[in-house]
Amino acid sequence: MDKEAFRKQLLEETEWINKKIYGFLPGDTTYQKIISEAMEYSLMAGGKRIRPMIMWETYKMSGGKDESLVLPFMAAIEMIHTYSLVHDDLPAMDNDEYRRGRKTTHIVYGEDIGILAGDALLNYAFETAMAGFTDSSNIMLKAGALKILAAKAGVYGMLGGQVVDVLKTGKPVSKDELLFIYSLKTGALLEAAFMAGALLAGADSATVGKFEEAGYYTGLAFQIQDDILDITSTAEELGKPVHSDEKNEKSTYVSLYGMDMAVKAVKDYSEKALAILNSMPVQNLYLNTLVEMLIKRKK
Ligand code: IPE
Ligand code: IPE
Ligand code: MG
Ligand code: MG
Ligand code: MG
Repeated sequence: MDKEAFRKQLLEETEWINKKIYGFLPGDTTYQKIISEAMEYSLMAGGKRIRPMIMWETYKMSGGKDESLVLPFMAAIEMIHTYSLVHDDLPAMDNDEYRRGRKTTHIVYGEDIGILAGDALLNYAFETAMAGFTDSSNIMLKAGALKILAAKAGVYGMLGGQVVDVLKTGKPVSKDELLFIYSLKTGALLEAAFMAGALLAGADSATVGKFEEAGYYTGLAFQIQDDILDITSTAEELGKPVHSDEKNEKSTYVSLYGMDMAVKAVKDYSEKALAILNSMPVQNLYLNTLVEMLIKRKK
């Protein structure tokens, strides 16, 4: 896809997703008002919105036409992702003070409300996804997407990856263990994004499985690039601290295999994801370019 056209669509879709996500935030609260503020603070700080965007793109390319069916799930996955970041930054985890260009939620609201804001985002993700369960229309599709979201966020998904990440801090890790951590802590939610969009559009299980695999490779590439940027980028560019992995004695792809191998791995895994997307009967050039862009991303 032409670079200019891609940039333009990326900006437009990011704006659109931001607006839609904002609309899903909790409305009036009373004594617990601080929690809706903290949720908005972390959620609206301006992430890249990669996950809802991927979900939207696989929904469209699988023939989906009904925005209102997929939007609650797009908001939900971004809430789950944001909760994972809020908790990842806590003193007991990576102990980081900046995220998405601002002070982290626990720094602004305190650790107690920081923890609760993460919990609130996780719970609200499911409230949001289920708000559309008002009648039996598309009920099996909605239930299927919900199942994916729940599973990929949990013990066998993102959360499980974070557990092993924490357990292995400061300890040697094998390549298998490293890829296990990456495929869960980062890959699982990307897999969910690819899969849920397709499933909501009525894609068959073989197709959803292909998207899962594309998500797996995208996740590995994405996390290795995250490790690279932790060393080569700046806090201004990333909106989060650099050298967080070194500070926390994390084994990363870069610390284990060196920068050159890491750069090569990002390229190789992205190409694997692209090969799967290219083998699909329907092509989405924007999605392919988005995955390609992850190789070169600076933030
Ligand atoms: C950061 O995710 C955490 C990882 C999984 C590497 P993103 O890089 O998607 O963060 P935002 O959403 O743009 O802030
Ligand atoms: C975390 O990986 C992935 C999550 C599930 C939050 P990192 O700890 O490397 O993410 P950043 O660098 O803080 O965004
Ligand atoms: Mg971490
Ligand atoms: Mg971190
Ligand atoms: Mg990182």
